[in-house]
Amino acid sequence: MNATPKNPTPVPRAEIVKLEGVGRSYGAGDLSVHALRGVDLAVRSGELAALAGPSGSGKSTLLNLVAVLDRPTVGRVVVDGVDTGTLSPAGTSRLRRDRIGFVFQTYNLIPVLTAFENAEYVLMLQGRPAAERRERVMAVLEVVGLAGLERRFPRELSGGQQQRVAIARAIAAEPALVLADEPTANLDTRTAGALLDLMVGLNEDKGVTFLFSTHDPEVMSRARRVVRLRDGVVEADEVRAPAARARS
Ligand SMILES: Nc1ncnc2c1ncn2[C@@H]1O[C@H](COP(=O)(O)OP(=O)(O)O)[C@@H](O)[C@H]1O
Ligand SMILES: [Mg+2]
Repeated sequence: MNATPKNPTPVPRAEIVKLEGVGRSYGAGDLSVHALRGVDLAVRSGELAALAGPSGSGKSTLLNLVAVLDRPTVGRVVVDGVDTGTLSPAGTSRLRRDRIGFVFQTYNLIPVLTAFENAEYVLMLQGRPAAERRERVMAVLEVVGLAGLERRFPRELSGGQQQRVAIARAIAAEPALVLADEPTANLDTRTAGALLDLMVGLNEDKGVTFLFSTHDPEVMSRARRVVRLRDGVVEADEVRAPAARARS
């Protein structure tokens, strides 16, 4: 990836994620835990936004709501213009399959599938023809720096390489939004930095929208927008000048 500055022409962008008065509680009565409390948040198409906050602040809960893996106790979660509370099970599956990519802290690659097959997975679910799948997978593996490693199984790849496969899988179908829950948590500092470079590059060069969580200040410092959660509340929402792209 090169460091060519992009034309900063502002384009009106759609809100791909909108949370309105969102609360999520677990349990009932005196024992209930309020994981999120009255969260309002909008993420626009084309953003790279970090969800920051200490352990237990509600980051995973928020991402799970946006991923429609969970439902709010109160409030509305709108993803890609759809109120997720109104979706049927089939509609939920379609939204998740066609519009959202996921990257997990623990990679979640399928161990018996190669890097190629893992990256191909969503395209298979979408029923895309083999030739198109092959073309797209080879292109995304190249983008994430894994050209030549297509036939490796996850156990034959380093943690950083496995996370790159997870990113390839998440972006292969060109989703409107990529969600990542602490994607760098299991990586050493240098590998985490390289992964962030990759995400920043995909955001700037290909317009991929990312909403990812982290509690690593170094990772946070690379995001243009940082939404800070504390005890289930948005404590700060800062948009900063983009950091220079690190050389790796
Ligand atoms: N399934 C659950 N049942 C009960 N409490 C939960 C559950 N998931 C999360 N919590 C609680 O909700 C709060 C927020 O958790 P979480 O969203 O995982 O935070 P983070 O990802 O920022 O570490 C924590 O107090 C956590 O213990
Ligand atoms: Mg978490």
